[in-house]
Amino acid sequence: MRKNFKTLYTRDQIAEQVCRLGGEIDRDYQNREILLVCVLKGSFLFFADLVRAISCPLLVDFVRMASYGCETVSSGIVEMRKDLEFSVTDREVLIVEDIIDTGYTLQSLFHRLLERQPRSLKVCTLLDKRIDRKVPIEADYVGMTLEEGFVVGYGLDYQERYRELPELYIFEDPSSAGEGRPL
Ligand code: XMP
Ligand code: MG
Repeated sequence: MRKNFKTLYTRDQIAEQVCRLGGEIDRDYQNREILLVCVLKGSFLFFADLVRAISCPLLVDFVRMASYGCETVSSGIVEMRKDLEFSVTDREVLIVEDIIDTGYTLQSLFHRLLERQPRSLKVCTLLDKRIDRKVPIEADYVGMTLEEGFVVGYGLDYQERYRELPELYIFEDPSSAGEGRPL
């Protein structure tokens, strides 16, 4: 393994948490239909696994949010590049994020969807990185908490690379990106 990729969570550890989250969501929604919103691109693998860990009836939809800034730090200016296709009004909506860092991305999406008057609006995130939080927003369902570091793999990228990796890694040295792969 290359020195700039440090395994954070293995496939099995991720699968265990996804299974737990599916169980918690099933328990809370009691077989009611959920509109599950995948926040592209980072959530796509987590989302694909999570939908299969939930037994409640589901609708799935996709949004794309983008924040301006450098590669690893959010600027706070967030735009919606792709909107949902379903109406949110009067539906039970669950946003599925890959990671909450500053919270700007989630806050922006949350408020946009809230204006459309869902019956309920909750958030599930694979990773919660609390140390850099700039706005007071919390997820209702959290896979794992993260103290520090930039994460890649299992959907998460550095400059659009490494999304396909099956495990989660701390990417330790962005200056040497592009030199190789972790395996
Ligand atoms: P904010 O700061 O708005 O960030 O809460 C949320 C979005 O920023 C991306 N992000 C990361 N992407 N590794 C990544 O691959 C990370 O460690 C990381 N931290 C933030 C991500 O798209 C997330 O939705
Ligand atoms: Mg994201």
